[in-house]
Amino acid sequence: MSEITNKTDFFVVKALEDGVNVIGLTRGTDTRFHHSEKLDKDEVMIAQFTEHTSAVKIRGKAIIQTSHGELKNE
Ligand code: TRP
Repeated sequence: MSEITNKTDFFVVKALEDGVNVIGLTRGTDTRFHHSEKLDKDEVMIAQFTEHTSAVKIRGKAIIQTSHGELKNE
């Protein structure tokens, strides 16, 4: 299975402030927002890339963990 079609990959977002947005973008030729999840401080979201979601945009201070590593969004 190629990297792109592997939908079992999980990522973790931990909000470091109120109002962090985790925005899912659609897979396929039409790239648009399809879901926005608002996290408050210390809330954690654990999600996958799926048939519907190929990219994620994160706004606000957060710790993000993926199979590629961890980063802090400040
Ligand atoms: N219904 C969405 C999906 O299956 C749920 C989802 C999964 C999602 N991963 C996400 C929403 C990441 C936002 C960000 O694709």
